[in-house]
Amino acid sequence: MSASAQAPTTAAPDSAEPFSDRLRRATWDDHRAAEDHGFAKALMDGTLPLAGYTAMVAQHYFAYVALEETGRLLAEDPVAGRFHRPELERVPALVRDLEHLLGPDWRARISPTPATRTYAARIAQMADHPAGFVAHHYTRYMGDVSGGQFIRRAAARAYGLTDEAGVAFYVFDGLGGLPGFRAGYRERLDSLDLDDGAAARMVAETRLAYQLNTEVFADLGRIHAPGAA
Ligand code: HEM
Repeated sequence: MSASAQAPTTAAPDSAEPFSDRLRRATWDDHRAAEDHGFAKALMDGTLPLAGYTAMVAQHYFAYVALEETGRLLAEDPVAGRFHRPELERVPALVRDLEHLLGPDWRARISPTPATRTYAARIAQMADHPAGFVAHHYTRYMGDVSGGQFIRRAAARAYGLTDEAGVAFYVFDGLGGLPGFRAGYRERLDSLDLDDGAAARMVAETRLAYQLNTEVFADLGRIHAPGAA
């Protein structure tokens, strides 16, 4: 099975189209830009040095601290709270991976890149915009349970890492099956019942989330995959 995501239909918007389909279709060019970045390609084809993978895990740590702190603030919100699942939380797994990759002093050895600072700040701002927070939640967690599963296999193979330590970030044992989780997530997106303006704002925030992720790849690629950018 190829890791490359298939392009969804490019048919024109249709008012009967479920919001989850619209969101995916309207943001797929941005997904493609992230997936096609030289850093991501080097990661997927096994040519990225372990130091590059480790640097990406470190950047994830800062983004997910922001995502999960903001998610907890919005746990009772009628919109964002629908997506709150403690079993999704990635920070404990990131800590395990970083301890393995960098050692017990991992926290002193990592810092956010400029793009990661911008990304984490944007996520934190979404505490006042619950639907915008859902856009960031969707972009990361739905990616982690989809294409992330290919990254898990590629990294385990390239660096000899295990689910217990190294690629724990991609292991979602608490969700009871990823296809069912993905289907349920789409149903929750469809249940949001957004008016046209709110739907357009959520699409725009998701596009921004992809772009911010691509900028993090760009920061990492300049250092760790200069030939691939
Ligand atoms: C390393 C490069 C990447 C690869 C190989 C990849 C691959 C994939 C694949 C195969 C899917 C499933 C498509 C389907 O359901 O038909 C997917 C979905 C998704 N990916 Fe990625 N992806 C990558 C990077 C990213 C990044 C960087 C993000 C965001 C930060 C992301 C976010 C998503 C999201 C949100 C979905 C779910 C779309 C939906 O069904 O609504 N992906 N990806």
